[in-house]
Amino acid sequence: MLERSCYPEVAPPLEDSLQTLPSTRKIQIEVLEDAQMVGEAAASFVTKQVKAKPESVLLLPTGRTPLLMYFGLISRTNKGELDLSRVQTFNLDEFYGLAPKHPGSYHTYMHRVFFDYLPALPRKINLLDGSAIDVDKECAAYEAKIKTAGGIDLVVLGIGTNGHIGFNEPGSSFASRSRRVAIQPETRAANAFLFENCADNVPEAALTVGIATIMEARHVLLVATGSAKAQAVAAMLQGPITPDLPASFLQLHPDVTLLADREAASKLL
Ligand code: F6R
Repeated sequence: MLERSCYPEVAPPLEDSLQTLPSTRKIQIEVLEDAQMVGEAAASFVTKQVKAKPESVLLLPTGRTPLLMYFGLISRTNKGELDLSRVQTFNLDEFYGLAPKHPGSYHTYMHRVFFDYLPALPRKINLLDGSAIDVDKECAAYEAKIKTAGGIDLVVLGIGTNGHIGFNEPGSSFASRSRRVAIQPETRAANAFLFENCADNVPEAALTVGIATIMEARHVLLVATGSAKAQAVAAMLQGPITPDLPASFLQLHPDVTLLADREAASKLL
């Protein structure tokens, strides 16, 4: 991991040149009272996207933050207000070494918290296969599938306490694509809830789409709740654009909306 004080001296040339790019600083920030309201607002945001383009290609997160968003999407679908049957979904990441059916996989998560509750499944559901023998081939095929689908219309992101997006941990390059990555100890601890609350059981590596893949999405929605995210949210918006805090790259994206609760927004100036 790069130390901020060392940056940009030790950064690779691409990150170095990023410092000279003007940030678009177009991130729309909406601060809501609590996590419940963030979940509702996120579900409304996705609903609006799908209503405007029923064949939308969505890139989706797992983790705890989006649970209320998925709940809101299920509830809108059940009320007949939303039809997800024509969308295509991709997921941001998957644990390396886990077969889709493993109880701790993000595959299982997506079915358990979202897909299994929908009256009609999305037209196509895509996730990286963490058990693929040839990881490079799997990742290249995933990127190709995203291209064939016409690119991502909307990516929904959570944010790690260290500023990761997807499993792009600090040190990730702006040009990164889908690949295998090591998961940092604090990220493994945050995922212990999927592994009987034991961080040691969380795989040490994952497959993730890259920063470049995320940056190519037409729209970005980032959801953040809770005081543990306050530092990362403030740094992402107000700090330098640096691989030390991968979410800061979003300052260079022209269409980002941040939905944060009061606690997650508490360190914004
Ligand atoms: C998971 C993912 C991660 C999470 C992040 C926040 O698919 O992409 O970047 O969004 O680790 O996780 P929670 O929401 O559990 O705090």
